[in-house]
Amino acid sequence: GLNISKLLSTTGMVTLDPGYTNTGSTTSAITYIDGDAGILRYRGYPIEQLAESSSFLEVSYLLIYGELPTAEQLDAWVSRISRHTLLHEDLKRFFDGFPRDAHPMPVLSSAVSALSTFYQDSLDPFVAEQVELSTVRLLAKLPTIAAYSHRKTMGQPLLYPDNSLGLVENFLRMSFGFPVEPYEIDPKLVKALDLLLILHADHEQNCSTSTVRLVGSAHANLFVSVAAGINALFGPLHGGANEAVLQMLGGIRDSGGDIATFVRRVKDKEPGVKLMGFGHRVYKNYDPRAAIVKRTADSILADLGGDDQLLDLAKQLEEVALSDDYFIERKLYPNVDFYTGLIYKAMGFPSRMFTVLFALGRLPGWIAQWREMINDPATKIGRPRQVYTGHGERAFVPVGER
Ligand code: ACO
Repeated sequence: GLNISKLLSTTGMVTLDPGYTNTGSTTSAITYIDGDAGILRYRGYPIEQLAESSSFLEVSYLLIYGELPTAEQLDAWVSRISRHTLLHEDLKRFFDGFPRDAHPMPVLSSAVSALSTFYQDSLDPFVAEQVELSTVRLLAKLPTIAAYSHRKTMGQPLLYPDNSLGLVENFLRMSFGFPVEPYEIDPKLVKALDLLLILHADHEQNCSTSTVRLVGSAHANLFVSVAAGINALFGPLHGGANEAVLQMLGGIRDSGGDIATFVRRVKDKEPGVKLMGFGHRVYKNYDPRAAIVKRTADSILADLGGDDQLLDLAKQLEEVALSDDYFIERKLYPNVDFYTGLIYKAMGFPSRMFTVLFALGRLPGWIAQWREMINDPATKIGRPRQVYTGHGERAFVPVGER
């Protein structure tokens, strides 16, 4: 056990809170979550209303600037972003260097880090115009980078962005279009992806966002701070869960669709066996984002011709879990990732791209939180304390005498 007196350092009391379950790292005016009631609001607006009526770029503006844009502001914002979608030709060559079977997430974070080498005129965190420029550059270029990371793994040529298209249309065309044939952009696909991006746009101090803030608190530039967030999101307990859900569902189907056996293995805590897409640090109720995705999953999958077998399996699994004491006692409900993978798959994305799509959605949140952190006079460099549990002082023993 720990000696409590060790918790008293020379500078006062040190709290020990593994995983920061009860420790606030910051004040923030961006996103409100009530985990017990299942409420999520961006800048005061309920996620359900934004999902119903807004667009991803409008929500991005709201998160970053704090207010909904006027029609004029929105136009200017969308058109400015549409003019920054191209990548430097030298940066495009990066994609050649990665192995063909590279996972697109580290490709994404590497390319975002590299933005700070190509766009050195927008790196100063304390010059407002530079922060504006890096904000616009990131929002405009991440879809291009994301599409290229997909093309790379498919061994397909990279398409230039078409700036007459909207952000989501452009991303879909760069992901799925071919230079020789005009790509028909399905408006239902655009609407569905735009909705999913809105649902992922911010989620207060989650692992990747806290990472972006922590890196940024050292006054690292916005590009490299966001790259660090992308790497955090890659983890299967965070953004990687949407990919893991589909693997889990496929595994259950391949073993004959035996849900009861799978749930038993989860409850027995077999190493590595979790009900992926279930549980959340903050929500002890149905994740409001999962509720929206579930409501729309049926119609989206019907439109796109998705995998009904896996959707049925997911629904059965949810039903079994929600009526099982193990999950009830622990307040484990589906999170946003439980149904999104099925939709992404129906859209034609390979499962390795799912977390990349999450990153596209989360980008405005990372940017808004980094900017809030940089502009907050209370910000200090993030530097947690520790409780040391190692040896006391001991004398060095030369190698020949050990
Ligand atoms: N399946 C089975 N049991 C679970 C699950 C799950 N998905 N999630 C939590 N539990 C159990 C734990 O084993 C623990 O049980 P115990 O008290 O008997 O030891 C109890 O519920 C509490 O769980 P913790 O691990 O303490 O919860 P924590 O807040 O640390 O973890 C997390 C939250 C990481 C999301 C966890 O629920 C999990 O691993 N879920 C699966 C992965 C996932 O879906 N991640 C996506 C998160 S949302 C997002 O990033 C968009």
